[in-house]
Amino acid sequence: MTATTLAIGQPTDRVDGRHKVTGGAHYSADVLLVGMTYAVMVGARVPSGRITHIDTDEAMQAGGVLAVLTHENLPGAAAQPPLIPSLAGMPAPGQTFFPLQDEVVHYTGQPVALVVADSLERAQHAAALIRVSYQEMPAVTTLDQGRDDAYEPEAIFAGFVPGRTERGDVEAGLAEADVLVDATYSFAANNHNPIEPSATTAAWDGDQLTLYDATQGVTATQLTVAALLGLTPSKVRVISHYVGGSFGCKAMIWAHPALAALAARHVGRPVKLSLTREQMFTSVGHREEQEQRVTLGADKKGRLLALRHHKLSPTSHFDDWAEPSLGVASQIYACPNYEGVYRLIRANTMTPTFMRAPGEASGMFALESTMDDLAHELGIDPIELRLRNYTDTDPTTGNPWSSTGLRVCYERGAERFGWHRRDPEPRSHRDGNWLIGYGMATAGYPVYGPNNPQRARARLYSDGTAVVQAATPDFGTGVATVMTQVAADALGLPFERCRFEGGDTTLPTIAAAVGSSGAGMISAAVHTAATNLRDQLIAQATADSQSPLHGADPGTVTVRDGRMMLRDAPETGESYGDLLHRNFLPDVEAAGSWSPSAESTRYGMTTFGAQFAEVAVDPDLGLARVRRMVGAFAPGRVLNPKTARSQLMGGMLWGLGQALLEANYMDPRRGRWVASSLGDYLVPVNADAPEVDIELIDVEDAFVNPLGVKGVGEVGQVGAAAAIANAIHHATGRRIRKLPITIEDLL
Ligand code: MOS
Repeated sequence: MTATTLAIGQPTDRVDGRHKVTGGAHYSADVLLVGMTYAVMVGARVPSGRITHIDTDEAMQAGGVLAVLTHENLPGAAAQPPLIPSLAGMPAPGQTFFPLQDEVVHYTGQPVALVVADSLERAQHAAALIRVSYQEMPAVTTLDQGRDDAYEPEAIFAGFVPGRTERGDVEAGLAEADVLVDATYSFAANNHNPIEPSATTAAWDGDQLTLYDATQGVTATQLTVAALLGLTPSKVRVISHYVGGSFGCKAMIWAHPALAALAARHVGRPVKLSLTREQMFTSVGHREEQEQRVTLGADKKGRLLALRHHKLSPTSHFDDWAEPSLGVASQIYACPNYEGVYRLIRANTMTPTFMRAPGEASGMFALESTMDDLAHELGIDPIELRLRNYTDTDPTTGNPWSSTGLRVCYERGAERFGWHRRDPEPRSHRDGNWLIGYGMATAGYPVYGPNNPQRARARLYSDGTAVVQAATPDFGTGVATVMTQVAADALGLPFERCRFEGGDTTLPTIAAAVGSSGAGMISAAVHTAATNLRDQLIAQATADSQSPLHGADPGTVTVRDGRMMLRDAPETGESYGDLLHRNFLPDVEAAGSWSPSAESTRYGMTTFGAQFAEVAVDPDLGLARVRRMVGAFAPGRVLNPKTARSQLMGGMLWGLGQALLEANYMDPRRGRWVASSLGDYLVPVNADAPEVDIELIDVEDAFVNPLGVKGVGEVGQVGAAAAIANAIHHATGRRIRKLPITIEDLL
């Protein structure tokens, strides 16, 4: 291609930006349908027990009420599908428990009634009139309450991660070590809290169901609701044009879309079910409370000889779910002897779920805090210690990395941050009353490939514009923008003449964009479809006796600005539009399908990065302020540096939140979450946000997918909290082994 400016790699503004800031974007709860009704979910007020009676009389008599659904009158779910991560392209319920089927209460907030009325206010009023009586039973809701009854599951994370992993001989490695560090870390539970609460609008037309759902994957919603209702998937259409953030809480499909569908069928009118902010703490999963113990053994030079990493966490009564905290932490350094074990506690909570960097963020906090201890103990610079343990292969398989860039990340990050100015002695930097600390940590996040083929379609119109389609919604990542860029380059069209359509199950099927896989897997399908279309048009031109390209070898034809031409004689050619026009074709389209190559399984695939933080601590007031964060990341090919940077900055700020602010706790006596609003659950706001400096390091990766895209969605959070805690240690000499780190910890 001789094109001067390619769309890929440009810091293009978001194509949906204007709609979002002007209110033109319509979210799932904004949908207005004729005859709309409104549902309100009523949650259990006890963590464990049985419903002995539900008095719905008063609610039924309230104005505008169309139905009150409880376990006594809600039709049963046809089938509860097994728990499978939504990326797999199968039904993906958030938990293998569907509410309103019997009188048993498993957790506070479990839906026990659904009220449908002709306005939201009337539904809310009627919901307040429902009286539920319970026979309460003892509950376990915290890690401490269940500690003694923990068990070792065969597998976690919906069966995808083994409960125990070993390599080498960890006991022997520890016995051989010159230095041992053994530390236990505790983590508060976290909630996702996107701006847009989850919502579904459901409407039936005969036996055809349409759902407007806030989701990371329309197909995931379609397949899950179809399974629960006993419908064939093609009878369920899911539309999700705009999604106001997710962070993982819209990755799995919770009960509310199916409940909205059942209610709509019951009342014979469209039903809108929007979760309240409070319900976002009890209805869409959470990052579980957890404890991790890390035991490191190293020689005098700091080379790791053994790593033992154990995790203990509460899960629901239904599913063996834990976020895979031991994953990346077991892969990031060369270490011959390893043992990772998950232990679970049956608790009266819902099943935990994905939350931004699910497992990677907590596991790397524990490992990277312990590595910082090791560096301190041996008097080795923290970056040097990590370089001494650098690995060119994935230690869990022995396979080479498909690409790394990690050494460059350390180098560039250290330079941008000014790491050389750091005196290794704790409490050696001051700014007035503030103690200043510098900390760093490694970041890593796996590159996930989908199980099913990913499909897209590209269509060129006779006016020379094109549309590419794939079912994925854009939940704030910028995917619609970058896919437009990908299509433009593959078709040889200017960006402005292309657009992307997604968020609808009538479009080609694509898996839910979870696990930072969106840019890689969707670009693979879009690139394939658009390339197929270009090749089809070139073939048509060279076969067309009216075309100036007639008889040319298609391999010698290139396209720029929508004009097909001979590479060596650019004056010979014609535009796509001319070809279509002459042949009376309003449009031409092609499909594309992509699956990860068999070759890719012979490589370890991880996005690497390095995180740096400068923190100021006021020891008298216990205040910790993050002054600067620097991240250097090597995410393969960067499709759009603006949206990529925005993703990474978001991740780093979530890391700040995880480090210093975000926490939810169970009240151990009442079995309820203490935080149920953004007043109680703190997230970073602008006043907390420091300068965040990001360097993107382009590395070539020939194995992950056609464009070599490794993803930037979550790696920005990994290591960020550890860099901050390590900076706090450097500032104060105190090692805080819990998240979040609060004022009490620093006094
Ligand atoms: Mo993301 S938390 O893997 O949906």
